[in-house]
Amino acid sequence: MQDQPIIPGQPPAAQITVSPDNPCPFLRGLVAGGYVDGHTVPLQKLCNTIEAASGERGAKEKVVGMETYMVAVGANGLSPLRLLKSATSGADLDELRNGPLDKHGAGSRILDATAHVHEDEIDRLATFGKDCKDPSGGTERGLTSQEITTFMAANIKRAGDQARWYYPMLMKGEWPVLLNIMGKGEGDERYLSVAEVRTLFVERRFPDRIVARLQHGP
Ligand code: HEM
Repeated sequence: MQDQPIIPGQPPAAQITVSPDNPCPFLRGLVAGGYVDGHTVPLQKLCNTIEAASGERGAKEKVVGMETYMVAVGANGLSPLRLLKSATSGADLDELRNGPLDKHGAGSRILDATAHVHEDEIDRLATFGKDCKDPSGGTERGLTSQEITTFMAANIKRAGDQARWYYPMLMKGEWPVLLNIMGKGEGDERYLSVAEVRTLFVERRFPDRIVARLQHGP
């Protein structure tokens, strides 16, 4: 397939269109790449796909699946009826906006409420990082676990009174998990590449090594 021209904030033509009401960069990548449906996704399918993306095996893989389940089952609402619907039919990925996980601008603000990418917010993210040693050679701007923690705290502070007490808990399932899955390097040196974050948000595309995991399946 030929490469499609990328217009920032617009999907490449070959991609599957993603609803603006799906605010999660990771899920947007999964939908755009055709790994999961853009509307209702059975929780088992979602868990299996994220397990595959994580590259974990055995018990660690099961933990990723269980964590995904816990997040996804309540993502569309916490009423008993909605929890039952999510558990039996699946999560509605195009109806996550304004759901229990939506922090209403208390996150990175890279994606706005209409799912447009704000490049200046990616630049802001980069200011929290440093030049990191790429295991495959050279250096690039990235954020280690510690820098991600500082970034998240700054986001909460910026949100001021809008931030709810439980947002820091929600955040633990976002950037730190993205670092686990997409990070490069090991231990304290492990970092999230700003260039790869940009590609994920702007082009809804995963790095090749994650695509390989997804194609291989859980
Ligand atoms: C491994 C799996 C996942 C990763 C790595 C991930 C990562 C992220 C990241 C990095 C953000 C952006 C936060 C920001 O802009 O500050 C985010 C937001 C979000 N994620 Fe995910 N996510 C994952 C799974 C899920 C699942 C399973 C759901 C629900 C079905 C979900 C729903 C959301 C929602 C609703 C937001 C928007 C939060 C907001 O704007 O306040 N995510 N996620």
